[in-house]
Amino acid sequence: MRQIWITKAGPPEVLSVREAPDPSPGPKEVRIRVRAAGINFADLMARVGLYPDAPKIPCVVGYEVSGVVDAVGAGVTRVREGERVFGMPRFGGYTDTLVVDERQAFPMPDAMSFEEGAALPVVYLTAHHMMLYTGNLRPRSRVLVHSAAGGVGLAAIQLAKTRDCEIFGIASRSKHAFLKEQGCQHPIANDADYVAEVRAATDGRGVDLVLDPVGGRSWSEGYDLLAPAGRLVAFGLSSAAAGKTRSLLHAVGQLLRIRSYNPRTLMDDNKTVSGCNMGHLFGEVSMLSEQFEALVRMYEAGQIAPHVDRTFPFSEAAAAHHYLHDRKAKGKVLLVPDA
Ligand SMILES: NC(=O)c1ccc[n+]([C@@H]2O[C@H](COP(=O)([O-])OP(=O)(O)OC[C@H]3O[C@@H](n4cnc5c(N)ncnc54)[C@H](OP(=O)(O)O)[C@@H]3O)[C@@H](O)[C@H]2O)c1
Repeated sequence: MRQIWITKAGPPEVLSVREAPDPSPGPKEVRIRVRAAGINFADLMARVGLYPDAPKIPCVVGYEVSGVVDAVGAGVTRVREGERVFGMPRFGGYTDTLVVDERQAFPMPDAMSFEEGAALPVVYLTAHHMMLYTGNLRPRSRVLVHSAAGGVGLAAIQLAKTRDCEIFGIASRSKHAFLKEQGCQHPIANDADYVAEVRAATDGRGVDLVLDPVGGRSWSEGYDLLAPAGRLVAFGLSSAAAGKTRSLLHAVGQLLRIRSYNPRTLMDDNKTVSGCNMGHLFGEVSMLSEQFEALVRMYEAGQIAPHVDRTFPFSEAAAAHHYLHDRKAKGKVLLVPDA
């Protein structure tokens, strides 16, 4: 098999394709010949050396794949050989051959392409969990989505549309026309005074839900922007990644800007602060499976549709990471095994 390794912490060029013997599935495991693997922002953080949950470098990251099952271990009942599947390994997804527990592989709907299958799992599950599982997204809420044209951002916009929400989306200006096409009524530039813009557009009331993976000062701004009974969901710290290599000074600066909350303040303010870290929920198989199945039904009903911006062959993985660092991507970027 061929895998993309992070050989050491550093710029995208530290990614390297290496060969290894094919793994065999054990009991209750299936082997997938991978057709596409999703890239997530966390992979970039891992490569830079700023993702504490990642395996020790050198390592293979990657949280989502699609492909075809070509071998099953003893006792497998959920999927069969030859079936098209998609799912979420906990790391190791940058590979052309993957062995996972059968509970991490889901049959793909007939209409779903391999590209869509690798683009859906992590970002839709994250958005769904924050908005419709732990969250209680009421119809016609006002929602503020940071990094709105990225993978999670677009998933959040599509889910918010199913509740007729009014959506404020922060993104680079070059992505605003695209965001409008996607149904975001209020694109806001990522270098603008978004707090002032949101206040002006809501007559000072603010928004009901803020989805914020930027962190640092932005979590405080989001809290202050919440309308009565509003909720802030913290789910990332992209502000800690200043560039394509690690700057500990910058990362610590962002951490120091995080405000603390105490329950009494939350009570008096009638606001909720919550968090989401999908990587820490991998053991919650039934919680995630239930949501995954809900998302498949939404896909089949045409309510959600993963947007794949570009695919890169494994041999150009470094270019793929550059593309994301350079903020060029709209929606998902995928890796596909070289022909
Ligand atoms: N907690 C969880 O379980 C979970 C799960 C998935 C993702 N996340 C987090 O959610 C965020 C988005 O993830 P994603 O996979 O959807 O990302 P993505 O598709 O790679 O989108 C990233 C977008 O974020 C913006 N951005 C903000 N800071 C950036 C930086 N330092 N470098 C490059 N781009 C930056 C850029 O948009 P603009 O140019 O338009 O600003 C970029 O296009 C990340 O922080 C990620 O860690 C968390």
